[in-house]
Amino acid sequence: MSLTKADGAGPALSAEEAARVAAGDALFKANCAQCHAVNEQVVGPALAGITKRRSISWLIPWVKNSSKVVASGDEYAVAVYTKYNKQQMPSFALSDQEITSIFAYVNAQPAPAVALAR
Ligand code: HEC
Repeated sequence: MSLTKADGAGPALSAEEAARVAAGDALFKANCAQCHAVNEQVVGPALAGITKRRSISWLIPWVKNSSKVVASGDEYAVAVYTKYNKQQMPSFALSDQEITSIFAYVNAQPAPAVALAR
């Protein structure tokens, strides 16, 4: 698995960050890629920029059990759930660290070329 960004122009990652991103890459492909892509909507929303929209302390319980967050009445959760036709995201038995790695991977992905085109 290559850690080099497609365009080779991204910021250099420390060895520790690179290891976290690699772990997140594998976890993302195994658990999330069937419904999510970083830059495109698939079944669920595109995840690019998600850590700017939501804090990691929101994201961890969401991935573990999104229906519980929706049921708690969390305004953002209810809105995104309703927007996606009340299609429930599965619950994941992942650790906090694994979930953090997934979002480190998401953040490390380059923006799509189309966004840069004029
Ligand atoms: C079976 C399809 C499916 C899988 C698998 C899935 N998701 Fe989702 N995800 C959704 C849907 C649909 C939504 C929209 C909210 C809803 O309907 O509950 C969503 C919403 C989200 C959101 C909120 C996005 C936003 O823009 O607010 C995050 C974050 C998220 N998913 C992360 C993940 C992660 C991380 C994984 C893997 C561990 C994952 N999802 C696996 C279907 C899925």
